[in-house]
Amino acid sequence: EKGGYDHFMLKEIYEQPKALRDTMASRLGEQEVILQEFKLSAEEVKDLHKVFIVACGTAWHAGLVGKTLIERWARIPVEVDIASEFRYRSPLIDKHTMVVVISQSGETADTLAALREAKKLGARVVAVTNVVGSSVSREAHDVIYTWAGPEIAVASTKAYTTQLEGMVLLGLYLAQARGTMSPEKIGQVITALKEIPTQAQEVLEQAKDIEDFAQSFVDVEDTFFIGRSLDWNVAMEGALKLKEISYIHAEAYAAGELKHGTLALITEQTPVIAIATQMDVYDKTVSNVKEVKARDAKVIGITFQGNKDLAKSVDHVIYLPKTVVELAPILTVIPLQLLSYYVSVARGCDVDKPRNLAKSVTVE
Ligand code: M6R
Repeated sequence: EKGGYDHFMLKEIYEQPKALRDTMASRLGEQEVILQEFKLSAEEVKDLHKVFIVACGTAWHAGLVGKTLIERWARIPVEVDIASEFRYRSPLIDKHTMVVVISQSGETADTLAALREAKKLGARVVAVTNVVGSSVSREAHDVIYTWAGPEIAVASTKAYTTQLEGMVLLGLYLAQARGTMSPEKIGQVITALKEIPTQAQEVLEQAKDIEDFAQSFVDVEDTFFIGRSLDWNVAMEGALKLKEISYIHAEAYAAGELKHGTLALITEQTPVIAIATQMDVYDKTVSNVKEVKARDAKVIGITFQGNKDLAKSVDHVIYLPKTVVELAPILTVIPLQLLSYYVSVARGCDVDKPRNLAKSVTVE
């Protein structure tokens, strides 16, 4: 059932090109996103004043990326909430609010409770979920399914990348309904999105390289994942993955925030994973990388092919095929998933069933 892989997690990491392809299938025109299951009219979309995205764990990390995409493309203010926090802070919701819940399983107790609360307050509720017929899919007004197929490993991988894709589809869809993005611009993102499964495959081909340097993490106690903008959001997912399955302390930090205190923790004992794909902040990220390098940290950089100067400031670079910056998170996370996987294996951890964790958290 593991299809020749040692663990479900590795199998699921390798299933990402297919999962990504299946999730976009029949939803893309040349310059148009088609969400057949979406019942909200263009008029109702124009009438939205605000979006909340509510989720837990990895799904929350996908929501953080979703915020930037929706705000940038559809020009609607977005707040992102952890589901277990959402209900307890009297969120300002009315019928002009869209609440997007993201849940792989569609059964997470806090996410489901948030959905019910949002409905009670009169919001339009959209679910992004991977399980057809799940509680979340049944109770939401609209559903955008991710077509990742069953995810067995506790650590989420293909669910995350397809949730990111769901955020891209939703962001473009809202932008198109509100007329905030030209069909040409939408077409450019769609063309790039169609390339993503093949590019994800290319990233997977670097697995051996990642397996090799993962060995140097075996005795590490602390790590930092840094980046700006969407890179920071992916850094959070990379850090969670490493903590979850290898039990190494990992902290994700907005690169520009390091010098406000945390830089004090960086030493030669603290490997740093620095992500630099967001080109509007690229130079700033590179100067933050130089700051950690000056503390003798061992730094692994992740950037697009062609960004040659990062190599001068880091010990090792992982290059990603070029895409539009908003899609970069889908590719960036793959080496981070592989790193966590190989570190977990090297440390002899139970990769698919990490201690104290369940695949679906049905208690609050
Ligand atoms: O099924 P859900 O997407 O609602 O699950 C949410 C989180 O419990 C989940 O993403 C968790 O953080 C993963 N184990 C992380 O790898």
